Amino acid sequence: MKLNVAIITCSTTRKFAEDTAGAALAERIRAQGWTVRLHVVVPDKRDRIAQAIVDASAVCDIVLTCGGSGLSLEDVTPEATADVCERNVPGIAEAMRALSMEKTRRAMLSRAVCMQRGATLVVNLPGSLKAATECFDAVADQFEHAVQMTAGGGH
Ligand code: MTE
Repeated sequence: MKLNVAIITCSTTRKFAEDTAGAALAERIRAQGWTVRLHVVVPDKRDRIAQAIVDASAVCDIVLTCGGSGLSLEDVTPEATADVCERNVPGIAEAMRALSMEKTRRAMLSRAVCMQRGATLVVNLPGSLKAATECFDAVADQFEHAVQMTAGGGH
């Protein structure tokens, strides 16, 4: 199944060329046979992240945010996600945290959410290369089925 996927890296300091986590996610997406429809770096500003999610959702099945989901007061990605999404999909965030806890207890510091904006699934991933790829690997096997179910397909 061909999925259109967006990567939105949320960082005020990171330039596109320095976005190693985003680049690694792009590589993984292509390895699945999916398309990286969009890859942008936006500042850690709630309205900027929310607008990037709106724009990406118009053309993508899956939107991956990367970073800004921790406890720093500058981390606002989950709030921006909730601003523009309607329905929570808690199991995906729960699975990321549960599998990540096997690697580092710091996983409990993640505030990541996964939500639907219309038919698009928005998934918050952490910002470091290691954490982002570990969390992607923890849940990406369910993306195709999630998109099929959203489109009205059964199990
Ligand atoms: N998940 C995995 N798999 N591996 C990690 O190293 N780091 C945690 C957590 N999830 C981590 C992880 C840490 S330290 C934080 S602060 C949160 O993700 C949020 O990261 P973010 O602020 O970069 O989004």
